[in-house]
Amino acid sequence: MKYTASFKLWHWLNALVVLGLLGTVFLRKTFLSYKANAEILMQKLSEIDIIITIEQAKILAKAIRSPMWEWHIFLGYALAFLMVYRIVLYFQRAVKKEVFSSLSLHKKGVELLYYLLYATLFFMTISGLALAFHETLSISKELTHDIKELHEAAFNIILVFVPLHIAGIIIAENRNEKGILSDMLRCEKS
Ligand code: HEM
Ligand code: HEM
Repeated sequence: MKYTASFKLWHWLNALVVLGLLGTVFLRKTFLSYKANAEILMQKLSEIDIIITIEQAKILAKAIRSPMWEWHIFLGYALAFLMVYRIVLYFQRAVKKEVFSSLSLHKKGVELLYYLLYATLFFMTISGLALAFHETLSISKELTHDIKELHEAAFNIILVFVPLHIAGIIIAENRNEKGILSDMLRCEKS
């Protein structure tokens, strides 16, 4: 067995949390975009003879977005917890891997992608926590701004990895790695 039961639990919780985080970003950039919604609010209110400025409309639109975005922070804390859990699993040797040098070129590539993903997830956690606690940590406005830019840039790696990973699993399952998915789903003790 390649993965222990606790690693499998970690994998699926991590997948849920990361997909949830991506979901909140999707909503922030589309249906709950404060710029787009400010325009709608301004226009609809003017149709019932209430005139507000764009700045006022943006305040309203951000208030509508806010309860949704709290989920980004909440899921962010969950990710931080899962990163600690992943370190514990590392010391427990919860993943039984072959020696890197004995892997095929393809498997080496897959492994390297996982390393890149782990590094990115850790970075997202540290930078995200720094953003969430910038006041408590007295991080300057400029530095907070730079951290946010980096947090947003690294988000693109996650955005590319997730569909690539899922497609990779489907392809592997249909080629020569039958059971790769059911192995990750099976609950029996290893
Ligand atoms: C929901 C769809 C997903 C499916 C069906 C899926 C399936 C799998 C499977 C079958 C493996 C084992 C691959 C192997 O044996 O080489 C795996 C590994 C992995 N998955 Fe997923 N996964 C999903 C989502 C995610 C998400 C959203 C993340 C986080 C961004 C993620 C992170 C990982 C990592 C880091 C590994 C490698 C673990 C290691 O060997 O250290 N997966 N996944
Ligand atoms: C897979 C992990 C994560 C992804 C993909 C992600 C993605 C993003 C993106 C794209 C933004 C910029 C949104 C925008 O301005 O349009 C953002 C902002 C932010 N994220 Fe994350 N994030 C992740 C993890 C975390 C974690 C672990 C935390 C920690 C609690 C966190 C806290 C924040 C905060 C506080 C902001 C700033 C929001 C604001 O300026 O109002 N994120 N995140």
